[in-house]
Amino acid sequence: MALTRRNLLKQIEFFSIGYISIPLSRQKPISDLTPEQIEGPFYPLKFPIDDDNDLTWIGNKKNQALGEKIIIAGQVLTRKYQPITSAKVEIWQACSSGRYNHEYDPNNAPIDPNFQGWGQTNTGEDGSYVFKTVKPGGYPVTRSWRRPPHIHFKVTLPNQEELITQLYFSEETTLNERDKILQRIPNNQQSLVITELTRSEKLKIRIGQFNIII
Ligand SMILES: [Fe+2]
Repeated sequence: MALTRRNLLKQIEFFSIGYISIPLSRQKPISDLTPEQIEGPFYPLKFPIDDDNDLTWIGNKKNQALGEKIIIAGQVLTRKYQPITSAKVEIWQACSSGRYNHEYDPNNAPIDPNFQGWGQTNTGEDGSYVFKTVKPGGYPVTRSWRRPPHIHFKVTLPNQEELITQLYFSEETTLNERDKILQRIPNNQQSLVITELTRSEKLKIRIGQFNIII
């Protein structure tokens, strides 16, 4: 179920993700390097057979993943804003109930058997990537700490340089402000790893942009 590679035209008014267009004005300004964050304990031990960039649908299964489907798209760029081609972008996350498909996840929320949990793609010539996934659930870490919904990212450049980070959602202010991992990032850099989901009426889906500057 791979999404078709979209053609990202930075110089003009719109960029398109397949048949999706997002006005450039909605893109976040690129102002700083993407902060690194811990990998966390739930990077897959076993990778799903279906390893593409659409996590909402596994192979030929009949049912799609539960929860709100979203698109996360952006570019991998150097600090001089040059696109990085053929970078590997991996994401992994909890399903909509907040459970990882990982044997060490202690959360007893129900696992969604139709959610792929991890996926990978390579950036195009313009450094662009796109994933279709579901909005992850938050999950408890301790009695007083609940992790906000977030998506883990691992980016591997052709020269093997790696960046590991996590992406958050602007609408989760309360959990974001209390999250011990997000709050390790200086306040003035947190917006670099927080995306705002914006609804595309045409596509009937919310889209979040995440540019990764390495
Ligand atoms: Fe996590």
